[in-house]
Amino acid sequence: MLERKKITIIGAGTMGKIIISGILDSGNSQVESITATARTKQTVNEIKRGFGINADTDNAKACVDADIIILAVKPKEIGKVVKTIRNKISGDKKPLIISIAAGVSTKYIEDILEDDTPVIRAMPNTPCCIRNGMTTLCRGSYTTDEHIQLARIIFETLGKCIELDEIHMDAVTGLSASGPAFIYLIMESLADGGVMVGLPRKVAMELVMQTVMGAAKMMEVTGRHPASLKDDVTTPAGCTISGILTLEDGKIRSVLARAVQIAAARAGELGK
Ligand SMILES: NC(=O)c1ccc[n+]([C@@H]2O[C@H](COP(=O)([O-])OP(=O)(O)OC[C@H]3O[C@@H](n4cnc5c(N)ncnc54)[C@H](OP(=O)(O)O)[C@@H]3O)[C@@H](O)[C@H]2O)c1
Repeated sequence: MLERKKITIIGAGTMGKIIISGILDSGNSQVESITATARTKQTVNEIKRGFGINADTDNAKACVDADIIILAVKPKEIGKVVKTIRNKISGDKKPLIISIAAGVSTKYIEDILEDDTPVIRAMPNTPCCIRNGMTTLCRGSYTTDEHIQLARIIFETLGKCIELDEIHMDAVTGLSASGPAFIYLIMESLADGGVMVGLPRKVAMELVMQTVMGAAKMMEVTGRHPASLKDDVTTPAGCTISGILTLEDGKIRSVLARAVQIAAARAGELGK
């Protein structure tokens, strides 16, 4: 489905580059059919050298004849960018617009376009970089099943992809897009604990990494609730339950849950 599509990525930064590499690695698209843009010549040259695709600083020019346009600039740039490309994408052939900007609604983009151009909002995360990402899609007013299928083909090359109603997108941003940073902080802290009790840093890091991967896989493979898996680890009067009570004293559950809550609320403010 993607083979004959001309794809333009506006904003070839951290996420833009991840999406470009995913599309290219999937073998679904050729370098000639992909164009990316950036603000500076420096990034444009880096993209040309790194991926061999077309790259430019001119967003409007890059969108001429595009079938799919992926908006990967910061949320505050979206309005300006959409106004710039609006005239180049009007006409009979309507491209599919996919925005990955946090907090920016499909309606905000549709209102600038003032026509029935299909818009999808997508929320990927940085593990897409190693094809272990999580992306959530939602539809705008003019999105069809075929458009969702196209977006799925792109984001499934980067990991898992699900569709939800747009009302959930800020919550998704606070959980799965910010989530990797929360987990890294926890991992770093656990490794610090290992160092505190005498492990070399490198060893502590390796133990933490495999422990987190193993715990995530246990949830996935067994389908069991994390509370039940935790009970397997806690021997009566043992060391794990004493560690858990210390975490509970530090209100770890509410601290983590509130982190998601506040990140979701902040996501909602970004597009305003
Ligand atoms: N980072 C994440 O974990 C994550 C996860 C999900 C969604 N997102 C969303 O992804 C979007 C991009 O985030 P990011 O972390 O990839 O940001 P980033 O690394 O700062 O990349 C932004 C890119 O946009 C380019 N740019 C800026 N203004 C532009 C313009 N007017 N026209 C064309 N290109 C322009 C920049 O070019 P230069 O390099 O030349 O400055 C840069 O390459 C944001 O909306 C964010 O909400 C991010």
